[in-house]
Amino acid sequence: MPDRILTPCIFTIFGGTGDLTRRKLIPALYNMSVDGVLPEELAVVCVGRRPYSTCEYRDILLESVTKHSRYPVRTDKWEWLRERIHYYRMDLPESEGYLSLKAWLEELDEKAGTRGNRLFYLAVAPSLFEPIVLNLHRHGMVTNHGSWQRVVIEKPFGRDLKSASYLNSVIESVFPPENVFRIDHYLGKEMLRNLMVIRFGNAVFESIWNSRYIDNIQITAAETDGVENRAGYYESSGALRDMLQSHLLQLLALVAMEPPISLDYKSVRDEKVKFLRSLLKMDDEIFRGHTIRGQYGEALLDGGRIIKAYRQEAGIDPASNTETFIALRILAGNFRWGGMPFYLRTGKRLPKKTTYVVLEFKSMPEILYFKEYKGMQPNLLVVRIQPEEGVSFSFNAKKPGQEFEITTVKMDYCQNCDYENNSPESYERLLADALRNDQTLFASWEEIEASWSFVDSIARSWEKETVSFPNYAPGTWGPPASDELLARYGHHWWNL
Ligand code: BG6
Repeated sequence: MPDRILTPCIFTIFGGTGDLTRRKLIPALYNMSVDGVLPEELAVVCVGRRPYSTCEYRDILLESVTKHSRYPVRTDKWEWLRERIHYYRMDLPESEGYLSLKAWLEELDEKAGTRGNRLFYLAVAPSLFEPIVLNLHRHGMVTNHGSWQRVVIEKPFGRDLKSASYLNSVIESVFPPENVFRIDHYLGKEMLRNLMVIRFGNAVFESIWNSRYIDNIQITAAETDGVENRAGYYESSGALRDMLQSHLLQLLALVAMEPPISLDYKSVRDEKVKFLRSLLKMDDEIFRGHTIRGQYGEALLDGGRIIKAYRQEAGIDPASNTETFIALRILAGNFRWGGMPFYLRTGKRLPKKTTYVVLEFKSMPEILYFKEYKGMQPNLLVVRIQPEEGVSFSFNAKKPGQEFEITTVKMDYCQNCDYENNSPESYERLLADALRNDQTLFASWEEIEASWSFVDSIARSWEKETVSFPNYAPGTWGPPASDELLARYGHHWWNL
């Protein structure tokens, strides 16, 4: 068991005034302080450009914690964390500031007893990753002598394979690979961690977890929100780079990888990489029409409220061709899954906020008595990732009574019903892991490389096609072509 109390360190967040810091990182630290896992010797330094005093900044953070933390604010716990938080003003790309930042951190280190350990968290626009990392190096802030310095990089990790490789080479020229934590917050979700136990801890599941018994596997990650205030970033990424390259492919890899030889992070990563490399590239002619793109239009709701089209949102190009929805039919060229389709979809402004995986098992042969009885459904194993967390299995049974009628019944395990809907948020888990130097829930460079290589093949195939946007209404499950894609193969989406 790892130590419950984490190692002393200065947690330095570049991007202190950004959304991520306010909505996720500081509330996560607050929850960790309530759980009593943070060390006494801790300092949190938030670096940003805006002219706040530490006092003003702390007050702003209290509002965020009140709004976004899963525990209610307790004065003693907040005061404990508050006095450890500092705001440091500087221009992030400018080299000069790092010299004084370094001196200031060293001074703080003495006072706080943080032993030279630093966790640098880059919660900034991707264009700043390189200058920050190089400046840390130039100013001797990454030494790793008698102390440790680690870096946490937020997504997007590059824009394609080429830019990601370049970024990786810059980062690894400064930080040794074992000190680089590429964060994908989906990997911190409770049910993604549970997937391995469900798969490999149950003989009934693992023995039928292959294309001989499963007809197709579907992954849905739906959101009701639109692009919100992230126009600049989203315009250049779209659903393909924002969701598929990272979260969806990571989730798919956990669903489909081979059993690892152990649960240590290297073995798990090895299996995920092997699976990601086995995905057939989508720019091959045979996959024409297997990738569907969508962009939401405008909607008028009951009561007269208007939902703006993507192209009308603040900061978005009125002729934008950025996709806010994507649906794919994917094949993996390996023994376990050969020929069996994976269907993946994700989008903004869909009917509900939900993420789930459906394993649809093959139907029984239409023989004997079943043929004439209506109501037979394929068995479904559903893994619900969020907002509810749980697993259900549905199967056919006879309805009680004189008649021979078939009905679908369900065995259902609702995990967050049992745990009072308060399981630790991804960021808490991932921050704790980075502090204790556990890479298990972070993506390796090889995984990122393999997923970009696949995503690039989609982007290349799109270059040959024209799109006509907008093509779906807010509150629907994306463009009709998404349903048509599955219908072509005798399937349909399970809208749960
Ligand atoms: C982020 C994406 O990584 O994940 C967002 O950039 C998306 O566009 C978010 O909304 C979804 O995360 P979650 O945990 O709310 O499903």
